[in-house]
Amino acid sequence: MNQLLKDEIVAGLKSSIPFISPKFFYDDIGSRLFEVITLLEEYYPTRVEKSIMKMYEHQIVSAVGTCDVFLDLGAGNCEKASELFDSVKPQQYLALDISKDFLESAITDLQQRFPHIKMTAEVCDLSQPLNFPNLVNKKKTFFYPGSSIGNFHPDHVSSFFKKITTICDGSGGLLIGVDLVKDSQVLQKAYDDSLGVTAAFNLNALLHINQILGSNFDLADWEHFAIFNESESRIEMHLRALRDVQITLPDDSLSFKAGEMIHTENSYKYTKDSFTNLLIEAGFKNVETWTDPKEYFLVCYAKA
Ligand code: AVI
Repeated sequence: MNQLLKDEIVAGLKSSIPFISPKFFYDDIGSRLFEVITLLEEYYPTRVEKSIMKMYEHQIVSAVGTCDVFLDLGAGNCEKASELFDSVKPQQYLALDISKDFLESAITDLQQRFPHIKMTAEVCDLSQPLNFPNLVNKKKTFFYPGSSIGNFHPDHVSSFFKKITTICDGSGGLLIGVDLVKDSQVLQKAYDDSLGVTAAFNLNALLHINQILGSNFDLADWEHFAIFNESESRIEMHLRALRDVQITLPDDSLSFKAGEMIHTENSYKYTKDSFTNLLIEAGFKNVETWTDPKEYFLVCYAKA
């Protein structure tokens, strides 16, 4: 296993505010648990985004137009992108995701349904710089649904958007979905569902880390904790130690006091204005937006 990855995890766990990057949610079990989360009544983002895409399909499709390359950032099971293939008519589909096995099986199925589109799956960590040297002079549409953008710090979002405008180089754009600020009870329930699926998703990060590090985190020692931090406009997920815990690594050790937390995820919530401003400030020329009747979620097309 990659030593850099191990060092990154251990440094996070030893930091003054211990953390695990949310990218470690998505092993095979975590990717499946996330799929189940998207089916839960309390987790509205996926369902509401889908309803917006359906309700405003004609407007969205006419804003986006066609493209040469459709780049799916955080493709998952590739389902959302595939619904746009008939209108966007890409020659090439580039599916990027953090989870390799999950992505490859999704692409294999999809290629059979759309044999005329050249499909490539790439494992990609979007917290690292984007680079697509082979796509110069092609009209590119970036697709980033599901409010995955909410898992980045707003400062990182700005530089990420700037990078996309540079790569687009005056043509194409970004079709993106983002979760909006709302009643904190609704938010809280979305990240602490009654079936405990989000709790399992959060705890599974420890099992994933045990596999990578050879550590001995015991799930019985930890509980899921989610809270809306209003001043930062973000849901925070943490794992809280239920008792004093000693963790053994092959050549190291860690200790946590009862009540101590490991921060595992931020999910930022935006207002329509704050989000469109970020896009415009990054250099997009024009932003069109669509929302649902309760204004829970926002879909934007930002033209490069
Ligand atoms: C992937 N991402 C947009 C999800 C979110 O809502 O921030 C991850 C998630 N975490 C807990 N539930 C879902």
